[in-house]
Amino acid sequence: MLYRVAIASAIVATAFAQVRVVEAPQKDQEWEDYKKMYKKTYESPADERERQSLFEASKQRVARLNEVNKKAGNAFGINWFSDRKPDEMNKRGHVKPEGWTPTAPVKDYKATRRANPPAALDWQFTSAVTAIKNQGQCGSCWAFSATEAVESQLVLSSGNQVRIELAPQQTTSCTPSPAQGCNGGFTEAAYEYMGTVTGLTNSFNYPYMQSLTATSATQACNTAKVAAIDGPMMQLTGGYAAVSGYHYATTPCTSGACANQDLAALQAAIETTPVSVCVNAASWNDYTGGVMTSAACGSMAAKAQDHCVMATGFNTTAPTPYWIVRNSWSSTWGEYGYIYLEMAENTCGIADDATIPEVALDLTDAQKAKVAAGRERLYQKAVLAQ
Ligand SMILES: *[C@@H]1O[C@H](CO)[C@@H](O)[C@H](O)[C@H]1NC(C)=O
Repeated sequence: MLYRVAIASAIVATAFAQVRVVEAPQKDQEWEDYKKMYKKTYESPADERERQSLFEASKQRVARLNEVNKKAGNAFGINWFSDRKPDEMNKRGHVKPEGWTPTAPVKDYKATRRANPPAALDWQFTSAVTAIKNQGQCGSCWAFSATEAVESQLVLSSGNQVRIELAPQQTTSCTPSPAQGCNGGFTEAAYEYMGTVTGLTNSFNYPYMQSLTATSATQACNTAKVAAIDGPMMQLTGGYAAVSGYHYATTPCTSGACANQDLAALQAAIETTPVSVCVNAASWNDYTGGVMTSAACGSMAAKAQDHCVMATGFNTTAPTPYWIVRNSWSSTWGEYGYIYLEMAENTCGIADDATIPEVALDLTDAQKAKVAAGRERLYQKAVLAQ
């Protein structure tokens, strides 16, 4: 009896399998491995079919990008995003009004360059650069880039004595129009906002609240919290950064192709400090590590800018010299949160909108006396970073 039931169910199973062969996604080992590796599950067979075709398209795109990237080796690959729709990718969020005119000065870092500039340097390995952050599914890249740039200035300008993780949520939520919170903005708007209030508070006092996994409406600005930054509870709520202005590291490019940006000026600035930069990140979701060439990144034009990040260093000793760039897509992305961009060109438009904020520090005379030596120690550490 048991035997006959087993036979019968085998026949049913076979018949069912034959019917299903037409409907089910192709049994593809690469796809099965992909799903397993990234713990993927799908709502329905139809959803899975769509995801598998996105995966197939990603494979072709990655192969094409690696072909274009040939001189620097592979920099693109299959990753968690390979089955995602465009609106489910890592968020960017650089949005600048048409015709916006820069007014901040350009600082000549080439004029104050050291006699023996380093061949490679990376502030990432010093306390001038905090751990990789995660903007989540919010177009707040501009707020992260500006906030991180202020963090770096606090550390460098205090000679490593004042080290505070600042609050990108304050920048995201409180920078007024034309910045649009999670719908995008630009770093200059962030610095200008910071100059209108006491300062930018720390991220414990004003934590990040946008969702990491789904789009969320921009949190309203907590104006009471901002007003209380230097109030009677300051000793309890913790430190903040008072932003007094900002300048450009290179003459900004606001229109046209931007193919002739002053890369030596950007390099000289990075020898002094990490720099907030904005880029065209159209192909960054497929980046998995290595050096991304300018050809593979695509347009460096002002109009192509869609993301803001931070340049923390460069390496001229590598076979393809590169800029070292910190992203805000968590440390699961790229080179543990970083990307390397070909240094010979204005890759991704890295020198189009390079800014450095300025902070006003309230240091005691004893603290002031320590600044130069502390800053020099950070520099030496950045140069030795390997
Ligand atoms: C620069 O690149 C070389 C060769 O790839 C590598 O050995 C070195 O660690 C890199 N230096 C920095 C600071 O990244």
